Amino acid sequence: MTVHIITIDGPSGSGKGTLAAKIAAHYGFNLLDSGALYRLLGLSLFQRDLLNKIQEQLVQCVDFATHLDIEFKSTDAGTLIFLEGEDVTNTIRTEQVGEYASKVATVPELRQALFERQRAFIQAPGLVADGRDMATAIFPEAQAKIYLTASAESRAERRVKQLQGIGLDAKISDILSNIQARDKRDMERTVAPLKPAEDAYIIDSSTIGINEVFQLMVDYINSRIN
Ligand code: DC
Repeated sequence: MTVHIITIDGPSGSGKGTLAAKIAAHYGFNLLDSGALYRLLGLSLFQRDLLNKIQEQLVQCVDFATHLDIEFKSTDAGTLIFLEGEDVTNTIRTEQVGEYASKVATVPELRQALFERQRAFIQAPGLVADGRDMATAIFPEAQAKIYLTASAESRAERRVKQLQGIGLDAKISDILSNIQARDKRDMERTVAPLKPAEDAYIIDSSTIGINEVFQLMVDYINSRIN
């Protein structure tokens, strides 16, 4: 039986996390939130005081990345994420940990160390993988490749609401400049830069709502996997 793979790539705050979860639930597929892996690794290296010494301590950092003790637990309230047994579900969503993740993401050896961990999420009947390089680097064989984007301003507004929703304070101007800086870093890095795959289906969600985006995705996926 073919294990279907659907990739959803795009910049920070485009809504891909929410949509990937909805698409995975719709098809009954496994879900990979690859950004969470980068966030977990960033947090772990920060806690070990290695985040600013990645190049000097590269062998040790790669070893941590390969053996990172993480767990994704599905509950009725959503997925809980554990790092070395500690619930870090909300901690990893902070802007600060986003910055740690973005730093980790520029190091080719660390990206390589996470490669097999991401491939291990391929499980029948299918996988929805959300990230930056799902279609271009990790799952190039995916049957459906979606690139979800939106203007930096609309993404900043959404991010503020999302952070407020989990009780974190956020200022729109700070979030917007963080998003612009992160976009630049994600798009200009030499290894696995953020860009649509050549055969990706591109959706701009700046002015359309989540239900409409969901429907566009389902129509496209059905045309690819049936
Ligand atoms: O999607 P996110 O905001 O949780 O991602 C956090 C950081 O990790 C972001 O700066 C880019 C990086 N990332 C990446 O380089 N490749 C991925 N597949 C997923 C995330």
